[in-house]
Amino acid sequence: MSDTARADHDHHAETDHHADTDTAASRTAAEEWDDLYRENERKWSGKPNAALVREFPEPGPGTALDLGCGEGADAIWLARGGRRVTAVDVSRVALERGAAHAEEEGVADRIEWRWHDLAETFPEGTWDLVSSHFLHSWTELPRERILRRAVDAVAPGGTLLIVGHAEVPDGAKRRSHGDGAAHGDSEVPEVDLPTSRKVLESLDLPEGEWEVQRCEEEKRTRTMPDGKVVDHTDTTLRLRRLPV
Ligand SMILES: C[S@@+](CC[C@H](N)C(=O)[O-])C[C@H]1O[C@@H](n2cnc3c(N)ncnc32)[C@H](O)[C@@H]1O
Repeated sequence: MSDTARADHDHHAETDHHADTDTAASRTAAEEWDDLYRENERKWSGKPNAALVREFPEPGPGTALDLGCGEGADAIWLARGGRRVTAVDVSRVALERGAAHAEEEGVADRIEWRWHDLAETFPEGTWDLVSSHFLHSWTELPRERILRRAVDAVAPGGTLLIVGHAEVPDGAKRRSHGDGAAHGDSEVPEVDLPTSRKVLESLDLPEGEWEVQRCEEEKRTRTMPDGKVVDHTDTTLRLRRLPV
């Protein structure tokens, strides 16, 4: 296994960082996520997600769409493996970091970085792989609707890969807003973290047109930036649209 494949990814923004309810309601997802990204020079590890590497160890040619691409490590993995990638996020800060990283990796010509608030707009077209990793947010996010739209974006014979959190990781810290004070549980907006089975049901796939290749929960142990080791569960749903 390569270093890249082995490396882990810190994915706790949506659970570690809960904005004050009133503040979140009056600010856009783009503002919230840009602020979150600006808190650190780099938010994530720069390595692709383990589930993506496991499912696509050698991505090969074709096209891919990454929904909520963040700083772009998954898009870069796919591009290095031969794909032409469309990488979408609501944070321009994250997209700019992704583009810079892709330059460094020599794959800039294979990735198109596109800003979308997926709650409002979705890129037009179809792709051989549509991938979504940890598209969760403490801001308003119609994830079910976005993922149903993702179904339509998969080309015949293509794959839809949806990876998410099934639970709030132990030890997750909350975002404090300005005053540095942690907010009580009652003020923390609920983040819906469905099982892979529930995600599958919510997609409402037409009978006989899709093959379920993986639908499971996976227990994982992760070392947080502060050194704390936390257990949590991720969900993986891998679907193939049957060729026509
Ligand atoms: C937890 S991060 C995961 C990032 C990346 N997929 C990864 O695995 O590193 C969630 C990402 O979703 C993006 N996001 C949140 N709400 C969004 C929206 N409404 N439209 C597009 N992207 C959104 C955030 O900016 C963030 O980059």
